[in-house]
Amino acid sequence: MTATSSVPDLITPTWEYAPAPEARDVVTIRPSHGLFIGGEFVDPADGGSFATISPSTEEHLAEVALAGPRDVDRAVAAARKAFTGWSKLSGTERGKYLYRIARLLQERAREFAVLETLDNGKPIRETRDVDIPTAAAFFFYHAGWADKLDWAGLGPNPRSLGVAGQIIPWNFPLLMLSWKVAPALACGNTVVLKPAETTPLTALLFAEVCQQADLPPGVVSIITGAGETGAALTAHDDLDKIAFTGSTAVGKSIQRQVAGSGRRVTLELGGKAANIVFDDAPIDQAIEGIIDGIFFNQGHVCCAGSRLLVQENVHDLVVDRLKQRLGTLRLGDPLDKNTDVGAVNSAAQLERITALTDTGEAEGATRWELDCPLPERGFWFRPTVFTDVGQSSRIAQEEIFGPVLSVLSFRTPDEAVAKANNTPYGLSAGVWTEKGSRILWMADHLRAGVVWANTFNRFDPTSPFGGYKESGFGREGGRHGLAAYLEPAEVDA
Ligand code: NAI
Ligand code: MG
Repeated sequence: MTATSSVPDLITPTWEYAPAPEARDVVTIRPSHGLFIGGEFVDPADGGSFATISPSTEEHLAEVALAGPRDVDRAVAAARKAFTGWSKLSGTERGKYLYRIARLLQERAREFAVLETLDNGKPIRETRDVDIPTAAAFFFYHAGWADKLDWAGLGPNPRSLGVAGQIIPWNFPLLMLSWKVAPALACGNTVVLKPAETTPLTALLFAEVCQQADLPPGVVSIITGAGETGAALTAHDDLDKIAFTGSTAVGKSIQRQVAGSGRRVTLELGGKAANIVFDDAPIDQAIEGIIDGIFFNQGHVCCAGSRLLVQENVHDLVVDRLKQRLGTLRLGDPLDKNTDVGAVNSAAQLERITALTDTGEAEGATRWELDCPLPERGFWFRPTVFTDVGQSSRIAQEEIFGPVLSVLSFRTPDEAVAKANNTPYGLSAGVWTEKGSRILWMADHLRAGVVWANTFNRFDPTSPFGGYKESGFGREGGRHGLAAYLEPAEVDA
């Protein structure tokens, strides 16, 4: 059922925008890509490949090499070989390479932004203003740490771990690469990274940046493929560390695989964050934060504010204003600079979102969706809001990973905390209130790795990020993130 009739008429004028497409030709996409192993692009051992497409048009973008176990072997061997030299370089020297990479990402930012938008489907406004600049910021930040590791709180002379196998998802391809590669390299480790199968292109362009920066061969290798390639990497017995971001199911399988091996692991998995709005919150500001919380990046965000908890006495006001504001969002061509909502990343993800939202209605929630036309080709889902959501319903418990918000209400701070924590996850939360003391009390009681106050989805390299419970363990970013790539120094007796 759609509930558009309950929304008051728009009082704000609606604006018509002329098309403002970003130039697509700022990036040249090679028709086929090899694996990046030992500093050069090589053919995969068994010659296989797969296609990556643009989810907004279903256009074929490029063929990408499919790495098998022999390629994983080669990449890990290259990383092992490079480790000796890289880990012995002084922090100052390693820092110089990282600064160089950071500057190259800035110089080539437009190219990266267009490529990310084409391969992923997210709006150019986001790749241009968030993904790419934040990825560069992660390299700058960790470049600064490289020669200061003695002061990271891990004792003098902390040691690098060795070779890291890193697996990243498709929702923030280059940004997740930077969260993994920058701290690993700053701490003297070498890496083999596997990007997601639907979004490999910016990682392969990053490989070119490594060449441009003269990074010693083997310090970074990039192998492409799907789950089987990832599983071959995590099963490799010459890794010292595994870093994974993705689904809880795969995270659990990795945990089982490495149990007893002594290998270090960090897992950053899913979430079902509560965005909590109290009646004294600045409502208009909160509306922007709710929208940013769940409709940013089509809701493909592990820390998305997918459950809105509103204090009961302002519930109707907040929901009405939210729908009004949603009415002004523009969905469509992600390369258009005025687009707010882009394409869903893949047909498989669209299917998952569709299936889960169908259970929402079946379980009695009221569905509202943005009344807008959808492009004919590509994978699209209308921004959707569910009200009358039961706490135990699937749309309140499971990660949908799409532009879908479930609204619940509460009366007291205690009830808000109980409902917010009633989830198997524990990655993030948001609190909207005028009272500083309440923010601190809530942050103390919410079981979430990150708690945002009067804002949402802010990412900064100086701030550690990671979860509790089924959201995984380990932190990325900040001083805490360094600990995931260093061994504290052994103190002589
Ligand atoms: P996924 O966990 O299968 O994929 C993430 C990465 O892991 C990809 O690079 C994939 O190739 C790799 N992978 C898959 N199976 C593997 C295995 N057995 N061993 C090692 N690596 C493996 O996630 P998927 O299927 O793309 O999305 C499913 C759901 O997972 C989403 O609907 C969402 O709820 C959640 N998800 C959460 C993410 C997060 O940021 N926390 C990111 C992506 C998905
Ligand atoms: Mg793609």
